Amino acid sequence: MSTAGLTSLELFRVTPKPDRWWDGAAIYQVYPRSFADADGDGVGDLAGIANRLDHLAGSDRSLGVDALWLSPIYPSPLYDFGYDISDYTDIAPEYGTLDDFDALVEACHARDLRLLMDLVPCHTSIEHPWFVEARSSRDNPKRDWYIWADPEHDGGAPSNWEAAFGGSTWEWDEATGQFYLHSFYPEQPDLNWRNPAVAEAMADVMRFWFRRGVDGFRVDAIFAAIKDALLRDNPPDRRPHVIPGIGGEAGQDPLWSMNRPDVHDVIRHLRAVADEFPGRVLVGEAYVPMEELVSYLGNGRGDEFHLAFNFELLRSPWEHRHLTLAIERSEALHPPDVQPTYAISNHDNPRHATRWGSERARAAAFLLLTLRGVAVLYAGEEIGMIDAPERILPDPPFDRAGRDACRTPMQWNAEPGGGFTNGDPWLPLVDHESRNVADQSGDPDSLLHLYRRLIKARHESPALARGHHRSFFDVAPEVLCYLRQADDQRVLCLVNIGDTAADCDLSAVAADAGEVLVATSDRSGRVSLGDLVLGPGEGVALRL
Ligand code: GLC
Repeated sequence: MSTAGLTSLELFRVTPKPDRWWDGAAIYQVYPRSFADADGDGVGDLAGIANRLDHLAGSDRSLGVDALWLSPIYPSPLYDFGYDISDYTDIAPEYGTLDDFDALVEACHARDLRLLMDLVPCHTSIEHPWFVEARSSRDNPKRDWYIWADPEHDGGAPSNWEAAFGGSTWEWDEATGQFYLHSFYPEQPDLNWRNPAVAEAMADVMRFWFRRGVDGFRVDAIFAAIKDALLRDNPPDRRPHVIPGIGGEAGQDPLWSMNRPDVHDVIRHLRAVADEFPGRVLVGEAYVPMEELVSYLGNGRGDEFHLAFNFELLRSPWEHRHLTLAIERSEALHPPDVQPTYAISNHDNPRHATRWGSERARAAAFLLLTLRGVAVLYAGEEIGMIDAPERILPDPPFDRAGRDACRTPMQWNAEPGGGFTNGDPWLPLVDHESRNVADQSGDPDSLLHLYRRLIKARHESPALARGHHRSFFDVAPEVLCYLRQADDQRVLCLVNIGDTAADCDLSAVAADAGEVLVATSDRSGRVSLGDLVLGPGEGVALRL
């Protein structure tokens, strides 16, 4: 392909959108129990997070991320570790108080760091007063805030639907003689989003936090918001591409129980509330195929999510064909004005240093932070944290779905407690003696420094932050190559995902040489494209 005409194409002019601070942003996910413990009880807290803000933004030792996203910090009986909320407008006592929260918002904003919360709109805890009321009797005014159904004529569950973590979505309530629905654990009854009172209550929750200065929400499991009103049985699964953990193993296609067309009414409602407050962002979480995910972004109409997690990279093996397809599908399917949102690790999945191997961590960081889109980092990935081996994890596990391994405490230094706590950490530290922030901070070749350099390059380069993306194939069997372009700036990104050196054929690129903008190696200065050989795992961004 010739790129000769590209710079002149109006198509490639990218207009900055000052109100859309999230374009090209790096968002840092904190799992609050595991980030920093200020009071020594072994569990992270808000004061701990406030003490560690230097790591994120506002100092020359910072990663330089644009936003901090906190997994849930609301009161919760912890059946799903915070994703089962018993009060939407308070802070769990182990994390602090509303005053601590206000102080954290202020401290973040003073550093130009945005703060996002987790909104869990689809289910509450069984201990939430709404559900306590709802299950108290069939004629309680809150009954219809949840989804209840009578047994089938044989006494069985009202439908064959399976919950995300296994078993039926239906739980029998002895006292009132009906089943209630839960898409996840039985301790997380689903709210009835067909009830306008529920929609209004959740709008008030959002307003409560927006008024406290929150810059947006990551919206949990939205694809489960609406279920078929007739409770029709799900058919056996025949699709090659199912939602992991939902239906797949049991061979069921969640056709009637997930991702229903009217989920878009729910999203539009949430968006309308967010739009009451300027500059706020909603990032949707939906484990649905990419073709359907992009519809959660409003198909370019601007009335649904601003961003939605694209988990294709997270689910991809470290193989050229798969990664290429994940990237190209994402580029091809997202509306032109909407950025993909990539994450390669989070609190629900094995960390990528474990999945792909620690030796891939540098190339993975390069990929995450040079692709077009919003990059969501999961705390600890910047130092290459790996999953805890099973032998050091608690038995029985805290999380029944087996996610303790990726939720272990942040490793700040090599001291006992890892700089995370002075007490007993709630989950064990994995390898803080050999992998920690303090050591890597002092080492310019560390992974931590690479993350800092990559994020800085994104901020300084309009092409990386918000430029278009165009791939070049056949550069070398194991090399991913893409041109990022905004206005007059062209940045060619190359990453060798293989374990051996790669001789690149860049004859299709209309340039002879480029200046290194950022690299995973110590390569610098001017590089000739005619004879470029990338080392194993090497990534280079060249300004053409
Ligand atoms: C989301 C969360 C996960 C939680 C589930 C139910 O997928 O990321 O941790 O268990 O929703 O709320």
